[in-house]
Amino acid sequence: MKINWTGFSKKTPAERLQILKEKGLLQDEHWQLLDSQQTLPLETANQMSENVLATLALPYSLVPDFLVDGKTYQVPFVTEEPSVVAAASFAAKIIKRSGGFETEVHKRQMIGQIALYQVDNADQAIKDVLRKKKELLEQANQAYPSIVARGGGARDLWLEQKDDFLIFYLSVDTQEAMGANMLNTILEALVSPIEALTGGESIMAILSNLATNSVVTARCVLSPRILDTRTTKGEDVIDRIVLASEFSKADPYRATTHNKGIMNGIDSIVIATGNDWRAIEAGAHVFASLSGQYQPLTSWTKDEAGNLVGTITLPLPVGTVGGSISIHPGAQFAHELLGHPSAIELAGIIASIGLAQNLAAVRALVTDGIQKGHMRLQAKSLGLAVGATEEELPLLMNLLAKAPHLNQETAKALLEELRK
Ligand code: HMG
Repeated sequence: MKINWTGFSKKTPAERLQILKEKGLLQDEHWQLLDSQQTLPLETANQMSENVLATLALPYSLVPDFLVDGKTYQVPFVTEEPSVVAAASFAAKIIKRSGGFETEVHKRQMIGQIALYQVDNADQAIKDVLRKKKELLEQANQAYPSIVARGGGARDLWLEQKDDFLIFYLSVDTQEAMGANMLNTILEALVSPIEALTGGESIMAILSNLATNSVVTARCVLSPRILDTRTTKGEDVIDRIVLASEFSKADPYRATTHNKGIMNGIDSIVIATGNDWRAIEAGAHVFASLSGQYQPLTSWTKDEAGNLVGTITLPLPVGTVGGSISIHPGAQFAHELLGHPSAIELAGIIASIGLAQNLAAVRALVTDGIQKGHMRLQAKSLGLAVGATEEELPLLMNLLAKAPHLNQETAKALLEELRK
């Protein structure tokens, strides 16, 4: 169904929820939870963690009309940072006009490892394990038969020697789950046979968050016309974005901030969908360092026709079932809003979000500068921070919009002025 999102940002939260309900994007049950601010009831929170006292809420937002592989998604974002949702929405809009994103999920498997020490003859141990590969994969599957019944299971194993350790690696197709518990159960079941085959002792058996067998690429192409700004021609914007991309490849100080901007979007949807954002963050940053120098996760180039071509590649081992996804009502709502994508589809949407978020930030940086758009939206937080009431806030924001410097002192001084 085609939905007109114009003016969505100007509505109240209750009006926005009403629109989602009317458009059939939200079941009554989830609408009631959101409308009554009950995205995480205390009883549920108490089942999810330990020593629970309360819950901490964050803004739950929507990035509308995100076109990925020919399908339009309404994307849930959970973030406290002003301008992130606006930036992603802006990029989603212009990238949609250029045909949207194309994604490729290279593989969808999780890797786990058993670290062995005191292996007398590592070369012989490797040969002995590989000779039993078929049996070991079968043993792995017997340790978790339900994943085999769902079409997944252990797919490959290999060994590597690093310093004093002989490391056994296992790659498992975890289907719709992120698979951390699954991997850990399977690996622990393999410890004894692997110790027996290698003569070594296991120091640990655990999943790896460097999910190089769950790598995703997203790509978009934008014509210069789409990137025209009030002051800069699209052709110049493209040249400047390409230069910014080169700069981020040359300097890890910039690459870090560049990737932080990407994670603004990626974390927002990963959190909303109940996935493990620490795992995604850890994996993304090590993946960015695999060449030996910390690199940007995106790349922007110009094609022969003068279009801007953006790509992002990173590991995204996300799930659609298991963990907190099946328990947290807010996470369930996120999957509903997205139309219940598969884990592979979800990974493609998340990679595309990272690319869109990066485009918006870099475009702003190389044209108007980040402060103009970001601080305009930050003004609201500044107003609240200095104690403006609901009635004072719009008046204060108008004054802040004209102020040469946006900071807490200015906001405080203007609020005092307003109250005279
Ligand atoms: P603009 O051109 O002034 O926007 O840009 P506009 O008012 O003309 O609106 C254009 C569209 O943007 C809207 O379309 C919305 O889609 C969206 P419409 O709905 O009007 O048809 N939009 C909004 N959506 C929801 N709420 C809003 C809103 N405003 C615009 N209030 C914009 C304004 C903020 C989009 C632009 O300046 C921008 O993209 N800036 C970048 C902001 C950013 O990246 N923020 C992230 C935080 S900064 C950071 O942490 C990362 C960084 O360090 C990373 C790095 O260095 O790479 C920067």
